[in-house]
Amino acid sequence: MEEKLFDIKTGYASPRNPIALASMAGITDSRFASRFGNAGLVVLGGYNLDELTNEAARKEINRGRSEFVSDNPMEFLEKELEAAKGITTIAVNVRAASLEPFIKAGEIVRKYGAILEINAHCRQPEMTALGAGEALLKDIPRLCGYIVEIKKTGVVLSIKTRANVVNDVELAIAIEKAGADIIHIDAMHPDGMDIGVIKRVRNSTGLFIIGNNSVVDFESAKEMFSHGADMVSVARAVSSNPGIINQLVIDISSFQSMTGWYNAPKHICGGGDLRALAFCCLPVKPCALHGALKQAGLSAEEFMKIKMDFARETPIEYGEGTCFGSMTWCCKITKPCFLRDGALTSSGLSDVEYMRIKKRLSEYILKHRKTAKKN
Ligand SMILES: Cc1cc2nc3c(=O)[nH]c(=O)nc-3n(C[C@H](O)[C@H](O)[C@H](O)COP(=O)(O)O)c2cc1C
Ligand code: SF4
Ligand code: SF4
Repeated sequence: MEEKLFDIKTGYASPRNPIALASMAGITDSRFASRFGNAGLVVLGGYNLDELTNEAARKEINRGRSEFVSDNPMEFLEKELEAAKGITTIAVNVRAASLEPFIKAGEIVRKYGAILEINAHCRQPEMTALGAGEALLKDIPRLCGYIVEIKKTGVVLSIKTRANVVNDVELAIAIEKAGADIIHIDAMHPDGMDIGVIKRVRNSTGLFIIGNNSVVDFESAKEMFSHGADMVSVARAVSSNPGIINQLVIDISSFQSMTGWYNAPKHICGGGDLRALAFCCLPVKPCALHGALKQAGLSAEEFMKIKMDFARETPIEYGEGTCFGSMTWCCKITKPCFLRDGALTSSGLSDVEYMRIKKRLSEYILKHRKTAKKN
């Protein structure tokens, strides 16, 4: 059997690639989504699950906004899931004014092997007045209570958040503890997109992260990936450039084929998250490594031991001619270096194999961190 290019998994969901279409109320229904079957994930909705949120959506429509409304929300949800069957992995972004509709929706969505996404993002006043959308961010205990109960349905659960509304690290830690699987972060910031929020959440939790906001091309997608996103999602850019999803899938697939680690972090000194400790040098000079080690609760000696223990009996233990005599301490494959490339050739190791070992090394280091996953 041909090996899968990406190995992406969250609960029972296995998106085939890390590019998602994000939800846009009044636009992203099953019909619209059918044009994006090459995406790894399509988020339908936002759908309104009860009378109150449907009524609120009608008011929004009256003042010119686009919304999906229905008199029979659960029937509508099921019909949409039925129509979207087979497109790709499906998530459904939903709003409700109380817990019960979320639970009903969780049961339906679970039946279809899809993902339920709680909309804790919408800031339309008609919704927030009901305690829906962004109001949930400002009431973390209620949001977490919902998560605990919804997870009892067995559904894979995503929380769509807007950054810089509350403390994003505290929020992410709380929703992970409550049992959510995914955090879908709109990295919005008053001055533009806040890439730092992706890194902070990556360093603080083991949540599956979908990074969102202002992804318009491969460069902007890569920025999200290299700060810790497992997937990236695109909303507005799809309207001006419907081919963008397809192009991103082509670009990230080719990057993955060449490098073996599509969301490899930037080096620590380049602003990367803690996974990048796998690319750090021997701790022999004053540099950003020491701050990162402090964050991970590791002394320089412990860090050296962890890396050397892992590397023993792997091909990266070797590295004659490299800066530190072992590829354990070598840089990312995308950083050009003829010394490392020479060592790779001597070891018969391909670029992809090298990066896969570095990925495992990063997981090993983070498993041994001594601080709670806190920033
Ligand atoms: C017209 C429109 C409708 C939206 N509706 C929703 C929604 O129902 N639920 C939601 O979580 N986000 C919604 N969003 C937010 C997007 O999913 C996305 O988070 C935001 O647009 C930033 O991503 P982008 O820069 O790729 O557009 C909507 C955005 C737009 C432009
Ligand atoms: S150890 Fe090397 S890669 Fe790591 S932060 Fe320092 S200079 Fe950068
Ligand atoms: S040999 Fe090259 S890849 Fe290895 S640590 Fe030195 S500069 Fe980085």
